[in-house]
Amino acid sequence: MDESTAPPDGLPADRAESTSDPESPADVVDPTTHGAGIGLDRRTFIATGIAAGLPYVVGDHRKWGSLTGGAEHFGGAPEGTTVGPAAVPIELVINGASHYMRLEPRVTLLDALRDYAGLTGTKKGCDQGQCGACTVHVGGVRVLSCLTLAMSVRGKPVTTVEGLARGNTLHPMQQAFVDHDALQCGYCTPGQLMSAVALLHEPCGPADADVQECLSGNICRCGAYPNIVAAVQEVRRNHSSMHSAAISPLAPSRRS
Ligand code: FES
Ligand code: FES
Repeated sequence: MDESTAPPDGLPADRAESTSDPESPADVVDPTTHGAGIGLDRRTFIATGIAAGLPYVVGDHRKWGSLTGGAEHFGGAPEGTTVGPAAVPIELVINGASHYMRLEPRVTLLDALRDYAGLTGTKKGCDQGQCGACTVHVGGVRVLSCLTLAMSVRGKPVTTVEGLARGNTLHPMQQAFVDHDALQCGYCTPGQLMSAVALLHEPCGPADADVQECLSGNICRCGAYPNIVAAVQEVRRNHSSMHSAAISPLAPSRRS
């Protein structure tokens, strides 16, 4: 069984520090060398910071429904109970398959996809919501995964670039990108593809300029824009004669 699809108990090695025993002497910093003069050790400082910042992270949890409830996923925590900031078990449905992982509530969907689910097709460009390289679909709507907390998409189908093709058959948009040579280095391409596929179901004018506007959140440093627009327009022209299932990456229901 794929490790990422099995209910794991541990975190990746590079996140091991986040699960270290908070009572460990190594976690307590000598106030004479750190924070000297203000009487704070590291543990106290972090705990104070978390207490101050957590309400902003949690927000209206009853509406957001991500950090709370779901007793089966959060170790039996009753509805309305705030969980975290330590890692908690979570199930994400990505490309129709369930992925079980332990995440701190602060982990973004982008990092969850790449570092925990092992789906590295989604790229990290700026990590600040500026470039579009991290674009994925959540519930069929494109989102910037670097600005989306993984906890907030629990229970919603997530589609990444790995979920566009059906077996060995490329999604029509992928095929059009190939046919129009709509890439050079390819780093932006997964995000461009996810935005382009979402665009097919969005209100977007018919002109090339309209497509440019609709894809303006996706930056291509190689300047492949004319070819990208040509690829998108070709798929749009064929859209009316194409069965809707052919341009929908995945049905919302689970594939496996
Ligand atoms: S990595 Fe998310 S917008 Fe750039
Ligand atoms: S193909 Fe290189 S950044 Fe777009």
